[in-house]
Formats: sequence, structure tokens, C-alpha cells
Amino acid sequence: MQITVIGTGYVGLVVGACLAETGNDVACVDVDPAKIEGLQHNILPIYEPGLEDLVARNQKEQRLTFGTDIPTAIRRAEVIFIAVGTPPDEDGSADLRHVLDVAAQIGAHMGRETVIVTKSTVPVGTASKVAAVVGQRAKYPFHMCSNPEFLKEGAAVDDFLKPDRVVLGVESDHARSVMTELYAPFVRTGKPIIFMDIPSAEMTKYAANAMLATRISFMNEIANLCERVGANVDLVRKGIGSDSRIGPSFLFPGPGYGGSCFPKDVKALVRTAQECQVPLGVLEAVERANDRQKGRLYEMLCGALGSDVRGKHIAIWGLAFKPNTDDMREAPALALIDQLLENGATVATHDPAAIEEAKRRLGSSVTYCETNYDALDGADALVVVTDWNAYRHPDFERIKNALRKPIVIDGRNLYDPAKLRALGITYRSIGRERV
Ligand SMILES: NC(=O)c1ccc[n+]([C@@H]2O[C@H](COP(=O)([O-])OP(=O)(O)OC[C@H]3O[C@@H](n4cnc5c(N)ncnc54)[C@H](O)[C@@H]3O)[C@@H](O)[C@H]2O)c1
Repeated sequence: MQITVIGTGYVGLVVGACLAETGNDVACVDVDPAKIEGLQHNILPIYEPGLEDLVARNQKEQRLTFGTDIPTAIRRAEVIFIAVGTPPDEDGSADLRHVLDVAAQIGAHMGRETVIVTKSTVPVGTASKVAAVVGQRAKYPFHMCSNPEFLKEGAAVDDFLKPDRVVLGVESDHARSVMTELYAPFVRTGKPIIFMDIPSAEMTKYAANAMLATRISFMNEIANLCERVGANVDLVRKGIGSDSRIGPSFLFPGPGYGGSCFPKDVKALVRTAQECQVPLGVLEAVERANDRQKGRLYEMLCGALGSDVRGKHIAIWGLAFKPNTDDMREAPALALIDQLLENGATVATHDPAAIEEAKRRLGSSVTYCETNYDALDGADALVVVTDWNAYRHPDFERIKNALRKPIVIDGRNLYDPAKLRALGITYRSIGRERV
């Protein structure tokens, strides 16, 4: 099939590469010429396991191309995926500027009957807005489809190739049959394609992210309470996660959720609810709890230091908002670094993948270290923010000897409190010991 993907970021690039992998002829286009030029040379703008191989192979076999000529890419396509960003507007609602820009271009340049797929996360009603804009200029019939994307950064290729489910909001038999054919290779193990009306598909994406964010904030608050009452959140998590009605995923406490999706999607859904005058109090509380949680590592650090951080030098392990990605959008590490710098500390950082991204965001305000142990030199304390595998079994003696004071703040509950205490390390984690 002739596919065009407009917007070649985390989502568009994964979608394009995976659809090429199943034999489609895919054109990925973007307004960012530097990104496209890099991709033409198999230089990826993002770190995502498995993606580079997929891009290189499919580009070599000429099923995947990258370009900035959006009109030509539109003209040829049987299916167009809109995968541009939908950042939060000032009032929290999703900013649809890029989506509607693309819609206008599709209307102007369509060269055949086309299925237009909104892959970006967009509020209910967006597909209708896109259809209205396309329809003003379209010379050919077109069919809208809402196909929310559920991939997880860090496991995006696998998630796309082997999805739990595919959600498709369609209004025509043509869209239904084209999309069924396109997704057939990815659901051969019997995972469902769930067809629905377009508004329900649009809402499904927000409801899924809102539910996941709710679980995280819920567990973070339970963890904070555990510290006060002398309970251990790890045991509580196992105790509740083994209940089949609850399940074990997304129950790990931490320094607050970040990334490109949960914060903005929760905000956008709250905003939609306010516009509709439907109370969404649970979700408003989820957001407030997350904002508070992003201050917890700093509080824990000050508690362990027994003072504020002025003049202190702090080592941070982990900058990406989660492991296996270089994405730092809304990363908890950014909130911590802001607080540290604002209060007069200096910061040395390490991350296995996000250093380039961190340099772009933080410039020379912090130092960047080659290895995680380098970051400890002369530091007054270590804070572990991201649960990269490489941080799971460090040499604690080495940590203790390198730090000026043996203080470890563990934002991901990676280590055994008793073991670190036995080594003489002052150790704080989330929700596991009475504070
Ligand atoms: N990142 C994720 O994990 C994820 C998961 C599911 C859904 N989503 C949703 O997918 C959408 C894209 O997210 P992302 O993380 O890939 O964003 P991104 O910022 O990484 O990529 C967006 C790309 O769109 C390009 N772009 C912007 N305007 C354009 C235009 N007019 N024409 C062509 N290209 C244009 C940008 O240059 C950029 O390369 C968002 O709505 C997001 O909420 C993201």
C-alpha cells in the first residue's frame, strides 16, 4: 500500500518504519529539514531500541523514504497518517495547530481517494475538524479514521509490531477494510482490532492515559502515607497487584510521571471536561498529586543532608523520563535540577542515552559525565532518578568512597534499604521506611 506519514517524531517514525517492514511503500515527511537529512543517512533524531535497524533496512530496500516535500507525499498516498505533535496550549487544551495545518495541505494536494488517519493524540471532535478543513478543498473522496497510538517509548517498535490491541474509529466500509488489511500482519496472534465510532476512539486514548496516570499518582500517595505509618509500599504493591481485579502493572511509586504524553493528555482531558462542565475531580487530583510528587526527591535530599542544598554538589543518575529513551519532556530530573540550581547547589549528571538532549535543554548549567561513577566525584549525595538497568546493581563500596557524604536518595526503589544501611550509607527511598 502507498502510505504517507506526516510528522516524523517518536510516533511517526515508528509507525512509518513498522509499516514499511510489512512491505508497504512508506513516505515519511516532516517540516524539520535537519531531522529529515539525518534520517536519510540513517541518523535517528531519537533513541529507541530496535528502530535504527528497521529504518536502515527498509530505507536500503527502498520501502521507506524521508523527505520534506509534503504535497508530493500527499498526492501519492492511499493512506495518510497525521502524526504531528499536539502540545498543550496555554489553557491545557491540546493545541491542534499542526494537525489542522496538515489537514489543509491534505485537502489542497490529495491526488486520489484517501483514508486520512489521525494518529496524533487529539480531543474528541478533532477528526470532524480535520474532515471539515480537508473537505474545503478536496477533489477526491476521503475517509476519516481515528487510530490512537498506544506505543510506549523505550519499547515502541515491539509495541507497534505486537500491539495488545488496535483501536480504529471509522465511519465508512472503505476505511474499515483498508485499515483491517494494513494492520492484519500485526494482529496475527489473535490480538483484537477494536472498531468503534470516531469519538469513542478519540476518547479511548485519553481514558487509557488518564487511567495509567491515576494508578501512578494513587500509588505515589499511598507510598507517601506508608512512610508515615511504617508500612512498606513494595509489599503493599505486591499485596494489591496480585488481586486480578487490580493487576500488577503501573503500581510502582516514583518521583512522579513525566514524558510527552501523561502530563499533557491528563491536562487536555481535564480541560475538555471543564469545557463540557462535567466534573473530572479524580483526574484533577491526579495532576495535583503528580506536581507534589515531583518535589519529593528534593525534600528527601534536604532531609538526608540535614540542611538546604546551598553550596552542595549533587550527583544525579538518570535524566530521561524513563529508561530506554532519550526523551526528557516533563522528566522528573528536570524538576529536581531546577530546584537544586535555584537553591544554590551544583549538579553532575549521567544518563546512558539522554545526555545530548540534556545539553540541549540545560546547556552548561550542570556537568555531564561519561560514566555514572564519574558523576560521584566530590558529590555530597547521589540521587537516582531514572531506573535504567545499568543502575540496578552498582558497586556500593565505590559509591560510598566517592561521595563526600554517603547519602543515596533512590527515586525508584532500586536498592535494598537493609543492605545499604549495613554499609553505612544514609539511604532514602519512596514509601519503604518510616520517616
Ligand atoms: N511519544 C509517544 O510516546 C506518543 C505515544 C502515543 C501518542 N503520541 C502522540 O503522537 C503525537 C506525536 O507525538 P511525538 O512524540 O511523535 O511528537 P514529536 O514532537 O516527537 O514529533 C512530531 C513531529 O511532527 C513534526 N511536525 C510538526 N508540524 C508539522 C507539519 N505541519 N507538517 C509536518 N510535520 C510536522 C515535527 O517537526 C516533529 O518532527 C502527539 O499527539 C502525541 O501525543 C505520542
